[in-house]
Amino acid sequence: MDKNSGFRTNVVGGSQVGAIAVDMDKSVIHKTNSLFWDTKGNDVLGATALPKYGAFVSEEKYQLFGDVSGKKMLEIGCGSGQSLQYLGDRKASELWGIDISENQIEKTRELLTASGLSVKLICSPMEEKCGLPEDYFDFVYSIYAIGWTTDLEGTFCRVASYLKKDGVFIFSWSHPIHKCVVLENNMLVFKKCYFDESWYSSSISESTLSLSDRTLSTYVNALAKAGFAIEQMIEESDTQDYDGDFAKKAKMLPVTFVFKARKL
Ligand SMILES: C[S@@+](CC[C@H](N)C(=O)[O-])C[C@H]1O[C@@H](n2cnc3c(N)ncnc32)[C@H](O)[C@@H]1O
Repeated sequence: MDKNSGFRTNVVGGSQVGAIAVDMDKSVIHKTNSLFWDTKGNDVLGATALPKYGAFVSEEKYQLFGDVSGKKMLEIGCGSGQSLQYLGDRKASELWGIDISENQIEKTRELLTASGLSVKLICSPMEEKCGLPEDYFDFVYSIYAIGWTTDLEGTFCRVASYLKKDGVFIFSWSHPIHKCVVLENNMLVFKKCYFDESWYSSSISESTLSLSDRTLSTYVNALAKAGFAIEQMIEESDTQDYDGDFAKKAKMLPVTFVFKARKL
């Protein structure tokens, strides 16, 4: 819990991990995280893809996208490509994805080609200008990828620029309260300060990733600043079909959040 010692406990995915404080140096963080996703990413953290928004929250229940037929879609951090495939199968007219990792982009390309779907892919950090068309998309969305950004406000402004007026932005990420609390001996224990948004690195399966955990108000205020109106926020957990410690934790607090916002 001592923020100044450099060493701390964080939650990454569903697990408690040791972490060390690091400076927010954008190029170092991009190098670390693209290497992580190029090599270990999906093996260690797995793919999180539609219809799942993350643990215990699904599109099938909440219907945030609704009918996407004929709609132009862009995924930020498209990873394995499964969410693009899901929306392509539902007759979206255009599928676009960006990701920082060449290997993830290649996985998406292979999956969509095998599914007979056409996709436009760009390998780039989401924070950077990367040649995506502006005022173009009906939906921009991101399933467990937005939190990797080194610049939340800048990324949300870019997302707004890609959307048509009244276009929809949907994204999911780990709920910040989940990132602070672990289940120990059937008790929920705070391991980290909710307000601590500083950057940290963790080693998982001999690979390193760098992250920061933002508060909910940071997300809400960054959306407002980028010109979005929030239409819905989801932090419920549907745990009825699940057992185990993670589900036990998710019965008590949200582990995933989802925002649906509209460009004004
Ligand atoms: C948890 S995965 C996304 C899961 C994805 N929905 C799937 O189905 O695989 C996070 C993705 O974000 C990408 N990523 C990490 N940092 C990024 C950044 N700064 N800009 C763009 N993509 C990034 C990773 O390469 C990875 O593919």
